[in-house]
This record gives sequence, structure tokens and C-alpha cells, in this order.
Amino acid sequence: MNLLKFLAMFVLLASLNSVANAQNPFEDPKNLEVLPKDISSGQLRQIMRGFSFALGERCTYCHERIEDENGSHMAFDSDKMETKTIAREMMKLSGRINRDIAALDRGEDHKYTQVVCTTCHRGQANPFLIEQVMKEQIAEGGTELAKSKYLELKEKYYGGHTYDFTGFTLAEYANSLADSGALDNALEMAKFSVGQYPNETYAYTILGNVYLARKNYTAAITAYEGSLAINPDQDGVKQQIERAKEAMEE
Ligand code: HEC
Ligand code: HEC
Repeated sequence: MNLLKFLAMFVLLASLNSVANAQNPFEDPKNLEVLPKDISSGQLRQIMRGFSFALGERCTYCHERIEDENGSHMAFDSDKMETKTIAREMMKLSGRINRDIAALDRGEDHKYTQVVCTTCHRGQANPFLIEQVMKEQIAEGGTELAKSKYLELKEKYYGGHTYDFTGFTLAEYANSLADSGALDNALEMAKFSVGQYPNETYAYTILGNVYLARKNYTAAITAYEGSLAINPDQDGVKQQIERAKEAMEE
């Protein structure tokens, strides 16, 4: 199906929907500052659903719900919620980014990738990467808290695009801790990555590197051997074993 047909289908569904529902909130918007004021109700609906999916939140995340004598109802035109104001700035920001990208002027045949809310948000309101979550958790309550948070998020989000749950990324995070000199935390997170991803060569390699940095040469060699047991064809890892053996003899 081409894009136009696909969009047409959406608009049709949206208009059928509006016949069924006399109180379609998307008819006659009163307070649009960024979107075109003459936008069709179908398009507005699609954009709002898109915002909700991009941030993994409901409409009430940005729109005020009012309780009064008429009961509980949504005031979509109200600007009371700060998140709605931020969302407007985000719409402008996305527009600026796309204009800057188009200004790269990469020739007529180049197909530009459009930056949309999901490009950054990936289903969360505050778009953190898993490494950033780990860093925050370690600062707050150490590696035990970081590990339990990791498992909780993995349970909830695995298979989606909100967080990267590959073994490589977790091992690389342990590596970055080692680089920054936090060798105790690095060891905990490297062990954790091996436990979580027992088939990921890189997890064993990083565990080996952390042990090497801690001058625990026997454990380093065992970890490197774990990496080679999965994929023997890694010259870099073999060299690390040699380095560990040499350091041991000194
Ligand atoms: C991330 C924040 C966000 C979410 C989530 C969101 N909206 Fe909106 N919505 C906005 C912003 C911002 C505007 C104003 C856009 C503008 O100024 O051009 C708006 C405008 C609207 C309007 C037009 C109101 C008027 O009279 O001007 C309607 C209706 C609406 N949204 C419905 C919804 C519904 C229904 C949902 C849930 C499916 C939803 N929105 C989810 C941010 C959001
Ligand atoms: C270039 C990346 C990027 C794009 C594109 C982007 N955002 Fe954001 N957005 C962020 C970042 C980063 C934050 C967190 C800012 C902070 O830490 O205060 C954020 C925060 C927000 C917040 C506030 C969340 C909160 O609870 O504090 C809203 C609402 C929001 N974005 C909506 C949107 C919408 C809607 C779009 C698409 C029109 C969008 N964003 C596009 C990066 C982006």
C-alpha cells in the first residue's frame, strides 16, 4: 500500500469515527499554535496518537482533565499542563532539526530521514538510554540497585526500542566504568553482563579486562577463555591472555 492510500484510510477511519462520536474532540480545535489551524480532524487525531505512542503516555500526560458540575472531562484547548507547552517547543525543535538536516543539501537523489518524536523518545517521556539509567542508579544506590533496575526494565521493555538490552551495550557500560577508574562498580557490572548474556563474547572480554586492571590475572585469563570458548577466532583476546600471563610472571 502506498503512503497516500495508507493516510487516506486513516482519515476515512477517523471521519467514520466522528460520525459515531458526536463529541469528537478533534473537530474545530481552538488553540493551535504550531499545527496549521485548518488541520483536518483525522490528521490531528493521528498526530496526537503519535505523540502518545512516542512518549508511552496517555493524553492526560499533556492535557488537563477538569472535574466540575458536569463531571470529569478533558480540556484539550487548555495550556495549563507544562508538558503541553514543552511538547510545543519539541515540535518546533523537531522542525528546526529537520530544516538543518535538509540544509545539508545532499543532492536531489538523497532521501532524508525525518526526525520525529520517536527518533529520540522511543516510548518514554524522558528519553534516557540504558547506560544513563545505570549511571543514575549507581549514583543513587550502587550496583545492586542498578542491577535490579536493569532487570525490572528488561522485564517491561524487552523486545521494544525503548532501551537497548543487548549484551554488548551492558558490557560496554561496564567498560566505561573501568575507563573512569570505578573498578569495583565495573567488576560488578561486568559480572552481571556475563550472567545476563552468557553467549556474548564481549561480556567475557570486558570482564577479563576489568580483572586485568585489578591485577587479578588468573581470573582475567579464565574470563578471556570464556570469550574464546564462544568464538575462538579473536586475536585481540588471545593477545590479552598473553599480556595477563606476562604480567603474572613479573
Ligand atoms: C506529548 C504531549 C501530548 C500528548 C500525549 C497529547 N497531546 Fe494533544 N496536544 C498537544 C499539543 C502541544 C497541542 C497543541 C498543538 C499546537 O499548539 O499546535 C495539542 C492539541 C490537541 C488538541 C487540539 C485542542 C484545541 O482545541 O486546540 C486536541 C483535541 C488534542 N490535542 C487531543 C489529544 C488526545 C485525544 C490525545 C491522546 C490520544 C493527545 N492529545 C495527546 C500535546 C499532546
Ligand atoms: C532531538 C531529540 C528529541 C526530539 C526529536 C523530541 N524530543 Fe521531546 N525530549 C527530548 C529530551 C532529551 C527530553 C528531556 C529534556 C529534559 O531532560 O528536560 C525531552 C522531553 C520532552 C517532554 C517533557 C517530558 C517530561 O515529562 O518532562 C515532552 C512532553 C516532549 N519531550 C515531547 C516531545 C514531542 C511531542 C516530540 C515530537 C514533536 C519530541 N518531544 C521530540 C528529546 C527530543
